[in-house]
Amino acid sequence: MDNKVDALSRLSTSLLIMILSLLPFREAARTGVLARQWRHLWRETTNIEFNENFFVRTDESLEEQHFQRCAFITFVKSFLTQYSQAVIDRFVLVSSRPNHFLLDMTNSINFAVSRHVKDLELDFSDPTWEEDIYDDCYEADFELPSHVYEFGSLIESLKLYSCIFNASRFCNFQALKSLSLGWISISMASLDVVLRDCPLESLSLKRCWNLEHFHISSSELGLKRLVIDKCEFVHDYLSIQGPTFEYFKYSGSVAQFYLENQLEMKEADLDFRMETEFGEGLGVYIYDLVLELCAVRVLTVCSALLQIIPSGEEPTCLQTPMQVRHLIMKTAVHENEYYGIRFMLYSCPLLEILTLDIGPARIFEDYEPPFAFSVDDFWTTNSDMVQRCIDSTLRVVNVKGFKGTVNQLYLLRYILHFGRSLEEFNIYVSNEDGEDGTNRDTNMARAHGITQLYRAARNLRISFF
Ligand SMILES: *[C@@H]1O[C@H](CO)[C@@H](O)[C@H](O)[C@H]1NC(C)=O
Repeated sequence: MDNKVDALSRLSTSLLIMILSLLPFREAARTGVLARQWRHLWRETTNIEFNENFFVRTDESLEEQHFQRCAFITFVKSFLTQYSQAVIDRFVLVSSRPNHFLLDMTNSINFAVSRHVKDLELDFSDPTWEEDIYDDCYEADFELPSHVYEFGSLIESLKLYSCIFNASRFCNFQALKSLSLGWISISMASLDVVLRDCPLESLSLKRCWNLEHFHISSSELGLKRLVIDKCEFVHDYLSIQGPTFEYFKYSGSVAQFYLENQLEMKEADLDFRMETEFGEGLGVYIYDLVLELCAVRVLTVCSALLQIIPSGEEPTCLQTPMQVRHLIMKTAVHENEYYGIRFMLYSCPLLEILTLDIGPARIFEDYEPPFAFSVDDFWTTNSDMVQRCIDSTLRVVNVKGFKGTVNQLYLLRYILHFGRSLEEFNIYVSNEDGEDGTNRDTNMARAHGITQLYRAARNLRISFF
């Protein structure tokens, strides 16, 4: 270690600061103990992250939290007083009570903007807020300082969580490529203004509310990435005509989607965990959405989608084959998902990598399968309908959270039995203890049992982790 520190010490100060700036802020701070001349060097990092959560413990009394917050503010102030770099690359400020320190917050944000910050992240949300339950009472009370609009023309990436802003004043953000908004009430009209005025390539909305619906229709937009994460819409419909995305992520309840011409899309992630009801109408919505996404190469789906999709227009597969090469299923491998798992495998004839990410999921109690079936025979009785991908293109299977339940073993046995081109089978054993007394050791023993099963591939490598 000493030798390495010595070698580093011969580098110029400016180079060292560049290296330090590549480290997360906390790691950079820890270099202060490496050597005497390093003690203050980290304070020149251009990657500054002031995070209240490094100081405030939410399990302490409110009074104690207040003292901890004051210590945080003192740290911020002393850091900025000593700071001497002319340009800041990234500036992060996280605090859940910004209005208790309004002046200090505003000053530090203005400081970052005056040093030509490129990546500005302001998060005033509270770590105790519920993500999975819609609730409108999380009103923001901090307003984006005026200085940011006036001098923020170099900002390329902006994140505003629980921070009030005026969309009409975004016209100065001529370099803004990435915008992430969260924990705020927002209207489609405001988003339209921002999209019109800024050259956005990436838009992310997390836990926003009061959106009437989501609608983009201009073909002049350069938007390539869209993330909609647990937002609350007045009308559950999303319509996208014009921009061709490369990445699309949706998390929330099932909505009506109108996506057009998404042939450039490389990756999509669909998470309907928030959906509480099983209904046939929803099947049609999901079926149509997945059909629009048929160009994606990497697709992540959830358990709710697997349960609902066969109740759409076709119960067995999509009418147009997908281009998916890597399919990630977040699944409980519950029997309610059987038809959906088969549906997706059928619909991805070029699949090369299959990842089963096994964990708890929403299982619909009122689920109804498209056809009656026996849980024990499902994967064996229909073996004449071997999915083309399993038979020919599938090379790698990753199983995460393996516990060796009967359902998991049925599915894996089926894949091994027909996967003639399989090369790798990676099993990541769950560390969780089961209610039935199972633990990592029993899970691992069951995993090893897999090596005893018949397999179609000659040179298959099965690994356990
Ligand atoms: C938002 O900014 C515009 C343009 O500067 C201004 O006319 C309007 O009053 C502002 N709205 C609010 C609510 O402050």
